[in-house]
Amino acid sequence: MLLYTVSLCVLTMVAAQDGGVVSYEGYQLLRVYPSTAQQLGTLMDLVRRRRYEGLVSLWSQQLFASRTSANNRTEQSADLLSAPQVLEDLVEQLDANGISYDVLIHNLEEAIQSENPPIDPENDELESRGGHRLTWRRYHRYKDIDSYIEYLAITYPDICQTEVIGKSSQGRDLKLLKVSTGGDGNKPAIWIDGGLHAREWISPATVTYIMLQLVEFRDLHPELIDSVDWYIMPVANPDGYEYSHSTDRLWRKTRSGAKANKRWGKRTCYGVDPNRNWDFHWGEDRSSSSDACTDDFRGPKAFSEPETKAMADFILTRKDQIKIYLTLHSYSQMWLVPWGYKNDKPKGYYDMYILAEKGVEALEAVRGTDYLLGTAAELLYTASGASDDWAKGVAGIKYSYTIELPDTGSHGFVLPAHEIEPVGQETWAAVKAITRHFTDAR
Ligand code: ARG
Ligand code: ZN
Repeated sequence: MLLYTVSLCVLTMVAAQDGGVVSYEGYQLLRVYPSTAQQLGTLMDLVRRRRYEGLVSLWSQQLFASRTSANNRTEQSADLLSAPQVLEDLVEQLDANGISYDVLIHNLEEAIQSENPPIDPENDELESRGGHRLTWRRYHRYKDIDSYIEYLAITYPDICQTEVIGKSSQGRDLKLLKVSTGGDGNKPAIWIDGGLHAREWISPATVTYIMLQLVEFRDLHPELIDSVDWYIMPVANPDGYEYSHSTDRLWRKTRSGAKANKRWGKRTCYGVDPNRNWDFHWGEDRSSSSDACTDDFRGPKAFSEPETKAMADFILTRKDQIKIYLTLHSYSQMWLVPWGYKNDKPKGYYDMYILAEKGVEALEAVRGTDYLLGTAAELLYTASGASDDWAKGVAGIKYSYTIELPDTGSHGFVLPAHEIEPVGQETWAAVKAITRHFTDAR
């Protein structure tokens, strides 16, 4: 009996690997709607069950959404990804507890396979683009994004510079693009980062789209660069990003071996959640974990990760210049304002809200995409050690926001690549609007 169980376990682990690439064949994404506090408690206990460990994961939690929007989002919902071998059991448990649910994705592997069109060498207009490979028609690897940063610096040397602010755990460059028409740092600056969470591919794609518009279409809006300096970092977690392309599409964390603890026999757990690792009320909440095998492992200490440490060090040296901090994540379609670590509003919240509102209005005007606006704690859940709270609370940047890009769950993290352009356009509209409002109001 014991032998049987062991071999079954080995079998399922082997089944999940196909030539070194993790397969999500038969995995389903469920949206569950706990309608009472008791059901919510039951649900959270369910997710944490030992026999579900590694087989059921929480993709998103919108448990405390304070308003219901037009497109049918209820006040409380959570998106759960279930492996096929526990799906029946999970559904039985939900039914038994009267918790309703919808199936958002019927087979995640299929969604993954159709998300990103393959490279088409026939259609590779490398020459016409003067040396970079970004298309905004598919999701690109880190080296393509990196070469776009270099391309911009070489092509527009009067306004673009690159800077390597550190190295990732695996030795990749942590690189940003600085866009400025000069002025020795006397102008206000806007910081934008993407790709802190590896699997949120729409984020680096959108950040590079913003770079494209800002720099290559500069003549359409010269004032955006004349009045403001820009620090833009499209891939803040390159190790995780590459791993999500090469091996596990759903990888979220960094790839450090920080406090690797051994569980599941000989399995070693890698990586830290880079959005739970910042040194501001680090480790205080219950929604980050001290278990290295979880997706929201906060790390052995604050700033254990070279990625978060490098960003923080850079931002601190320019903290008086940077007036707006933007970090792009997915998914949910929300514009989040601090605090996220507690249910309270920071100093300057009214101004922060008004500026965010300008952004959301401009974004929604492009194609009617519906965004929720509010504090991270009220719209999602409290979680400490995130970059937005640190930017506000430690660096003292007045306007700090997390933007949760599309969609609202039909594809979740696996957003088809044809969405890159529309998401880029509407997000760029928001960035333009807040920049103009901010510079006009000064
Ligand atoms: N989805 C993001 C995360 O979980 C949201 C962070 C919001 N900010 C916060 N301080 N909780 O990392
Ligand atoms: Zn994220």
